[in-house]
Amino acid sequence: MTHSQPFDVAIIGGGIAGLSVALRLPEHVRVALFTKGQLGESNTRYAQGGLAVALGEDDDPELHLQDTLVAGAGLCDEEAVRTLVEQAPGAVRWLIEMGVQFDRAQPGEDAHATPDGLLLGREGAHCRWRVLHAGGDATGAEIERALTTAIQARSSIDVYENTFVQHLIMRDGRCVGLQATYRNGESFSVEAHVVVLANGGAGGLWLHTSNPAGATADGLALAWEAGAALTDLEFMQFHPTVMVVDGASNLISEAVRGEGAYLRNHAGERFMPRYSPQEELAPRDVVARAILSEMLSEQTDCQYLDLRHLPAEKMHARFPTISAFCRQHGLDLATDLLPIAPAAHYCMGGVLVDTYGHTTVDGLYAVGEVACTGVHGANRLASNSLLEGLVYGIRIADHLVQTGGMESMGSSSLYRAARILTYNDEIRAIDVSASSPLHELSTAQVRQTVRQVMWQYVSLCRDQEGLLEAQRQMQWLRAALSMAEECDSFTLETLNMLLVAELVIAAALERRESRGSHWRLDYQETDTRLAARHLAFVPLHSVP
Ligand code: SIN
Repeated sequence: MTHSQPFDVAIIGGGIAGLSVALRLPEHVRVALFTKGQLGESNTRYAQGGLAVALGEDDDPELHLQDTLVAGAGLCDEEAVRTLVEQAPGAVRWLIEMGVQFDRAQPGEDAHATPDGLLLGREGAHCRWRVLHAGGDATGAEIERALTTAIQARSSIDVYENTFVQHLIMRDGRCVGLQATYRNGESFSVEAHVVVLANGGAGGLWLHTSNPAGATADGLALAWEAGAALTDLEFMQFHPTVMVVDGASNLISEAVRGEGAYLRNHAGERFMPRYSPQEELAPRDVVARAILSEMLSEQTDCQYLDLRHLPAEKMHARFPTISAFCRQHGLDLATDLLPIAPAAHYCMGGVLVDTYGHTTVDGLYAVGEVACTGVHGANRLASNSLLEGLVYGIRIADHLVQTGGMESMGSSSLYRAARILTYNDEIRAIDVSASSPLHELSTAQVRQTVRQVMWQYVSLCRDQEGLLEAQRQMQWLRAALSMAEECDSFTLETLNMLLVAELVIAAALERRESRGSHWRLDYQETDTRLAARHLAFVPLHSVP
């Protein structure tokens, strides 16, 4: 079934990026917004720390730029970062107009705040207090609340909830719509003048992740199938402090370390000073590897966050969500040591886009975690992700209004700065039934095995031997799953995960150096010749 009226813009994804594009477009533009869960359920909702913006009296976008470039380990695209930090203050004003209520200082409160009273937090690798937050540690939830409320008040936006987008529709080399299914299996297609991918990242590919279950790399797979280039996929950020208790995991915001929490090993030692002069506030890749190193040398499965030296009442008030999670599991945030370990958190790479969100496919745009503008380089600065979705979401909407969506990437400098590799994504002719027990695996088991393999071999530290083993296992798994008779959205998501896992592995094999979040045990030096050199993959099936 095809919905008869074509839309002007179809947006896939209901986090800050997709919602910002939708709300920024004027009301005469007909918008369809697709989300595979309910509206408001997205990775954005779980963001705790906040949104970075240089609004403090002692701050400046230039300082924010420098911090972002340093954390990015030489791989940021400076023009994209400059756009991000300079447009951040205006974008935040717009977000507040949309109804987001950031935390404000109480009269007489002695706190870090902007001249107009917005409270500012501190996070790793920021040289200033610069992070806006809401509800203490519920920033993403407040943003989702405000933006979904605004969406529901807009008659120009049709929202398709519980709808899984299976394919993008291509005509004469241009993306002209999408095909989707409702949860009851009924499929339909929608035509649109342009399609915007805003459907997040790939944290679900790893066994341990801070992401909700929906982060299955669907946007990357859709773009790939349509022939778009993907870039920087080897750079996956592992958040240093995800608490795992009783089998449940929960992010412990970096803002907790910003307030002064220490990291301790099982011997009780505060170990970060041994790893970095920035101690607990070093960039995330440094802290995550330090924690891993302590875990390996002590042969333990966690390290500890320690807030016991900080004022208890203030900590409970500042971090109510984390405090409640701890309490549910019998821990007191302020008086107990909190068991933490690194977990997959954020995909720095993505669909290759320029600073207007153009992908390499006409009519297809991408924004937020699914996209790679180059702002994060090899290691994202804390709290720059919500900001990127917001700033670039606004930019894409404004650009679509100005150009009617008829421009394409053309001579993007980012595309030229990338080394372009083709990748053949055909499923190998492997006789799964002959020699492997894999043919007996259910889709759920295939998915779980993908996550285990990625965790074991494509994690904080990688090497060629492990990556080749992971590659071999992914090819087996994909061949096994291709025999599945079911083609429900769970199976399609799992196929997306497998495809993107293969691409991540291929990128990690190709980058023979250590940089930011990509740490190769067999190539531990940073190769200065590769500075600012991105790797981009294009599907062989799209090469004429
Ligand atoms: C955090 O609060 O530590 C996560 C926020 C982010 O990833 O920037």
